[in-house]
Amino acid sequence: MPENLPFEFFFSPAFSADPYPAYADLRAKGPVHRMGFPPGADAFVVVDYEHGRAALADQRLSKDLRNGPAWFGEMVAGTDPVLADNMLMSDPPDHSRLRKVVSKAFTPRRIELLRPRVEQITAELLDDMAGKGAAELIDAFAFPLPIIVICELLGVPDRDRDRFRLWSGALVEPSAEPEQVERRALANAELREYFGALIEARRAEPGDDLVSVIVTSGELDDKELRSTLALLLIAGHETTVNLIGNGTLALLRNPGQLRYLREHPERVPDAVEEFLRYDAPVERATFRVATEDLEIAGVEIPRGAFVHVSIGAAGRDPAAFDAPDRLDVTREPNRHVAFGHGIHFCLGAPLARLEGQIAFTALLARFPGLRLDCAPEELSWRFSGSILRSLSALPVAW
Ligand code: HEM
Repeated sequence: MPENLPFEFFFSPAFSADPYPAYADLRAKGPVHRMGFPPGADAFVVVDYEHGRAALADQRLSKDLRNGPAWFGEMVAGTDPVLADNMLMSDPPDHSRLRKVVSKAFTPRRIELLRPRVEQITAELLDDMAGKGAAELIDAFAFPLPIIVICELLGVPDRDRDRFRLWSGALVEPSAEPEQVERRALANAELREYFGALIEARRAEPGDDLVSVIVTSGELDDKELRSTLALLLIAGHETTVNLIGNGTLALLRNPGQLRYLREHPERVPDAVEEFLRYDAPVERATFRVATEDLEIAGVEIPRGAFVHVSIGAAGRDPAAFDAPDRLDVTREPNRHVAFGHGIHFCLGAPLARLEGQIAFTALLARFPGLRLDCAPEELSWRFSGSILRSLSALPVAW
C-alpha cells in the first residue's frame, strides 16, 4: 500500500545518515508513495528499480517546470532561476537543441584526451596532502579535482572556485528556510551576472575553450547560454565530489574490499561503477511533472503532479541487484541508474568516470595506510533534504 510521506521525510538527520533502511521499508510496501514535498503540491516518490528507471525515461513526465501547477510556475517565474533554461530543465525539441551544442565536447573520445591533465592535477593535489599525516579529504581532494577540471574545460578561471562553491551550494541546497531562500536569490543573481560578463568577454574575443564554442554557436539565446554554463559548472563538480567522497567512505568501511582493490587496481573501473550504485552521488533525480493523468505501478498520478525518482533506492533494489546492501567492487552485471536514464542521461558521465578512475587509482597507490580519522557516527551530510548525497567532511589519516 502506498504511504503518505510527510514533508519532513527527506529532511531528518537519521535519513541523511543512512537513507537505505527507510527506502527498504518503503519498497516492501510498494514502488510508489505519496510525498509532501514540495509543500502544497501533489507529489510522489518512486523507490524501486524497474519503475524508477522507466519513469526517468517517460516522456509523459516533463522536465519543464512550467508544466507544473500554476502557482509553482508563477513562483519559478518570480525568482527567475538561472538554472531553469538548460537541457536538464527542458523537453524535446528544446532539449535536443540545448544538448547538441555541448555534446561534442563530452564524447568519450574527447574526454579521454583530458587524461594526462586530470592525472597531473590529481598527483599535485595528493602531493600537497602527502606532506601531512592527516587530511580532510573533501577539501583537500574530492572538491578541488572536479572543480579544477571543469573550470579548465570551460575556460573559466579556477581562482574563482571558492565563489563557485558558495554559489552552487546555495543553489543545490533545498530552500526551506528564509535564509536559504535569501542565499539562493543572491547566488542566482551573482551567478547570472558572472556568466553574463563572461559571455560578453568571449563574444568579443573568442578563444578555443568550451565557453567560446557555446557562445559563438549561435544556437542559444543569452538566457540559455547563462543557464547552460551554470549547469555545466554545477553538475560538473557537485556530483563528482560525492563519487570520490562516498566511494572512499564505502571502501574505508569495508576493509576486505579495500584490500582486494589495492591488490587488483585493474578493477578500479568496476569499483567506480559499484560506488555509483552503492551510495549514489545524486540520491534523487531532479523532479519531473506529469503532463497527463497516468499510473505508475497501479498508483494514479494526476496531471501536474511532481514525481521524484530515488536513484539511491533503485540501486539497492534486491529485484535488480544481488545482495544490494553489500559493497562488491567486482559486481557484474551492474546496471545502475546513477547517471539517470533516457534523454537526460548524464552528459558528463565519461568525464565523471575518467575522474573517478584516476582519483581512486592514485589515492590507493599513494596512501597504502589510508583510514577513517573519526568515528563513523561523527560524519555528517552537507544538505538535509537535498537531492545530492554529499558528505560535509571526510577526515582521513594514513
Ligand atoms: C559522478 C558524477 C555524476 C553523477 C552521479 C551524475 C548524475 C547525473 C544524473 C542522475 C543526471 C540526470 C538527472 C535527471 O534525469 O533528473 C545527470 C544529468 C546531467 N549531468 Fe551529470 N552526473 C555526474 C557528473 C557530471 C559531470 C562531470 C558533468 C559535466 C559537465 C555532468 C553534466 C550533466 C548534464 C549537463 C546533465 C543534463 C543532461 C540532460 O538533461 O540531457 N554530470 N547527471
